[in-house]
Amino acid sequence: MKYRASVLTISDKGYAGQREDLSGPELERLLIEAGFTVVNREILPDERERVATALKELCDCKSVDLVLTTGGTGLSPRDITPEATSDVIERNVPGIPEAMRAESLKITDMAMLSSGIAGIRGRTLIINMPGSPKAARECFDIIRTVLNHAMETMTGRGGDCGVS
Ligand code: MTE
Repeated sequence: MKYRASVLTISDKGYAGQREDLSGPELERLLIEAGFTVVNREILPDERERVATALKELCDCKSVDLVLTTGGTGLSPRDITPEATSDVIERNVPGIPEAMRAESLKITDMAMLSSGIAGIRGRTLIINMPGSPKAARECFDIIRTVLNHAMETMTGRGGDCGVS
């Protein structure tokens, strides 16, 4: 069975139509390629409460298994994606951003400037990715191999890790 995913681009300029959202469509394409059904994609401004509310709705009402956010993980005063995510998650999954930063550092020193986090609310895994299409693609490549097993264990629909 296919897992259900959603992509949330968080960008003031993208929301205002001043910048084309390239990373959202790119993540959607990568998710489909990885076997997910992408049930929705939206753009929100860098506003903590709005982002938190949207994340809650995706987790609680839309039965989405995975939410990938892109953007708003940097150091600018408007970057609030990790804070909005931590407002809604119930369990932290630190290994995912640790791996994304560690592997990304092999590509660019700038990786240390992304404060993205990952965590679970209910039966939904939320992962923050950086905002450029290049960075989003690189980070997706890093986590791609574990996504299916993450979905299986989190939803309880999968097998046992210790079997093989
Ligand atoms: N990670 C990877 N893999 N590749 C990149 O090019 N860019 C960095 C970083 N992470 C980058 C990356 C840069 S330049 C910034 S400012 C931060 O992500 C935060 O990006 P965001 O504010 O768009 O989320």
